[in-house]
Formats: sequence, C-alpha cells, structure tokens
Amino acid sequence: MFYRTDVNDHGLPHDPFKACVVPRPIGWISTMSPAGVHNLAPYSFFNGVATAPPMVMFASNGRQPHGAKDSLANVEETGEFVANLATWDLREAMNRSSAPLGPDVDEFAFAGLEALPAKLVRPARVAGAPVHLECVHHQTVDLPSNEPDGRNAIVIGQVVGVHIEDGLISDGILDLSRVQPLARLGYFDYTVVNEMFSISRPRSPKS
Ligand SMILES: Cc1cc2nc3c(=O)[nH]c(=O)nc-3n(C[C@H](O)[C@H](O)[C@H](O)COP(=O)(O)O)c2cc1C
Repeated sequence: MFYRTDVNDHGLPHDPFKACVVPRPIGWISTMSPAGVHNLAPYSFFNGVATAPPMVMFASNGRQPHGAKDSLANVEETGEFVANLATWDLREAMNRSSAPLGPDVDEFAFAGLEALPAKLVRPARVAGAPVHLECVHHQTVDLPSNEPDGRNAIVIGQVVGVHIEDGLISDGILDLSRVQPLARLGYFDYTVVNEMFSISRPRSPKS
C-alpha cells in the first residue's frame, strides 16, 4: 500500500506512522515547575543524538487541555530535566505518569514513585530506574504543527551527569540483559529488550 500524509488516505482504522518507526526508546522525563512541583511523563520520540558532549532529545507533540505540555513548559522555564530509563518492572508506573494532569499535580506521587534528588539539577530522579541522565536545556527546535494550538517541539538537552545502578555493571559494561529497558511500538504496543546479539564493525579495507 501507499498513502499520502497530507490527506492520510491509508484507509486503516488508525494512522500506521508510529508503527513504522520502531522501536522507540522511552525517555521518562522528569522536570520541576517554577513553583517547585515534580512533573513526570514518558516521551517515545526520544533519543540520544550526540556523545561528545552527550546530548539527548525528546519531542513534545500537541498540547494538554490546560495548554502546553508541562514537560516542555517546565524545561523552557527552568532549563533542566532528567531522562529516566523506563524498565519492565516500572511499566505500569510509567504508563500512569502519562495522564494529562495539570502543572500543580506531583506526578511522582500520582504514579506511586519515590523522587530521589539529582546531583546537578533540580528535577528529581525516579527511584528504581537503573539509569538517570541529568540534563541542561540546550535548544528547542519548533517543527511545523497541524494543530493550530499545538506545538511539535524538539527539546535538546546536554547530559551533564549520569547515574547508573552499580550492580548492573558487569566486567566494566552496563549489563542491559538485566536492565530490561522498555521501548514503544505502534498503537498501545511495547517491546522489552530481553534478547541481544553482537556484530563487530567492519574494518577499513587495506589499499
Ligand atoms: C509510552 C508513551 C510514550 C509517549 N510519547 C510521547 C511523545 O513522544 N511525545 C508526546 O508529546 N507525548 C508522548 N506521550 C504522551 C505524554 O506522556 C502525555 O501527553 C503526558 O500527559 C505529557 O505530560 P506532561 O504534560 O506532564 O509533559 C507518550 C505517552 C506514553 C504512554
């Protein structure tokens, strides 16, 4: 099949686009409002985009009934966020934290999660998440939006501090087989990393 995205003439009950870009890692983004309220939400338009210095991005699409999404508003107002790694064990709390709540609601408490202090930024870390990336806002890139009141904003942050659960490092390597990170597929589907394989990079051919 082929469809044009300007008219979405796919004839399917649901837009298949997000099922065509898979799997997407989940950035479980914690921020703090200017009033000091903890905010937490999952973003699957998330990725690492550079290593030296390390940078990550998440994309906030659309809006909440009360206005801009709180994660975007808080980062733009306070300049800081933490990207927490969502895992199989935390899947229900991760999903619960996606509820469209107002900026005055502590979403750690709402999701039944303990908030751990970060070292270099004010937003909290999710207790139980095995990796936390403390980030400082670098830039927001606003993309076109089909929603008149919505934004498609890519938030780029520089990672200034990394927490890794000590027990998950084996022989100097972060043992992802024990981390079980979640990733997003299309619709309401997810996958979990529980199978891995390695392939060595090719070397440049001798001339
Ligand atoms: C697994 C998952 C991934 C999500 N990914 C995104 C995303 O990439 N961009 C987005 O705007 N919303 C995404 N959402 C929806 C937000 O989490 C939701 O709008 C949330 O209420 C935003 O909270 P905030 O206003 O506190 O930022 C996702 C939801 C789930 C459950």
